[in-house]
Amino acid sequence: MRLAFIGGGNMGEAMLAAILEKGLSTAENVTVSDISEPRRRYLKQKYGITVTGDNRQAAVESDVVVLAVKPQQFAEAMSGLSGRLHAAQLVLSIVAGVGTGTLCRALGHSCLVRVMPNTPAQIGEGISVWTATAEVSKEQKAQAAAILGAMGRQVRVTDERYLDMATAVSGSGPAYVFLFTEALTSAAVDIGLPDDMARELALETVLGSARFMQGSDRPPAELRRMVTSPGGTTAAALARLENGQFTELIKQAVRAAYERAKELGN
Ligand SMILES: NC(=O)c1ccc[n+]([C@@H]2O[C@H](COP(=O)([O-])OP(=O)(O)OC[C@H]3O[C@@H](n4cnc5c(N)ncnc54)[C@H](OP(=O)(O)O)[C@@H]3O)[C@@H](O)[C@H]2O)c1
Repeated sequence: MRLAFIGGGNMGEAMLAAILEKGLSTAENVTVSDISEPRRRYLKQKYGITVTGDNRQAAVESDVVVLAVKPQQFAEAMSGLSGRLHAAQLVLSIVAGVGTGTLCRALGHSCLVRVMPNTPAQIGEGISVWTATAEVSKEQKAQAAAILGAMGRQVRVTDERYLDMATAVSGSGPAYVFLFTEALTSAAVDIGLPDDMARELALETVLGSARFMQGSDRPPAELRRMVTSPGGTTAAALARLENGQFTELIKQAVRAAYERAKELGN
């Protein structure tokens, strides 16, 4: 598979590394176009791929063109590509908040896959939610699934509205988990644990609990009840969390992210 990346930042590099590692393409078949010269030098040296500062040149010979620039860089990055792609080229965009309608208008191209990945994709533990336009062939959908599968799990949806919802849950979700871990660490220090021990206990608890939930056939609510004895320590903590409307607050946070995703997409 001949691939071009428009933008070789954090997420572009994560995708590139996963594709090469899983053997979906080879270094000689990959070109990365990035505006930053130090970034190009680094990627060429690390992966042996071709690099350029010319987006159009990168895209022209490729089967799949990955758009991996920041939303605010999108218009400028697209200007050189507009109307230059062949109908059969697949454009796979991970640009947050840019819908297939906008992509189609900006590029004059309708064979598109739009993806919402998340940060753990950088270590192959991500979850990507994606949708494809009607012009994307069965083989191209399989290509997209293989690329995204190299960075973790992938879920295809036919209704694009699910992407804004996924943005609020899995896209922004890692930050919620980071905040929870941060808060647990700081609470541990407050009751007297040394900093490094507080960090280790908080992180391992989040990690171990996530793995335990994943490996269990019981839902999280049941696992929670199993570890909560009436009148015990966990019950005291959970009562305090619910007093502060923890569940309701999470609902409001996700709703706020969802509303913002819809606003940004318009
Ligand atoms: N990181 C995540 O976990 C994550 C999760 C979900 C979605 N996303 C989405 O993925 C996209 C990429 O995110 P990222 O974290 O990889 O961003 P990033 O690290 O900033 O990468 C973007 C790269 O594109 C370069 N660039 C800027 N303008 C360009 C242009 N006109 N032509 C070619 N290259 C250009 C940037 O160079 P400069 O640095 O010099 O500007 C940078 O190296 C974003 O739309 C983001 O919303 C990311």
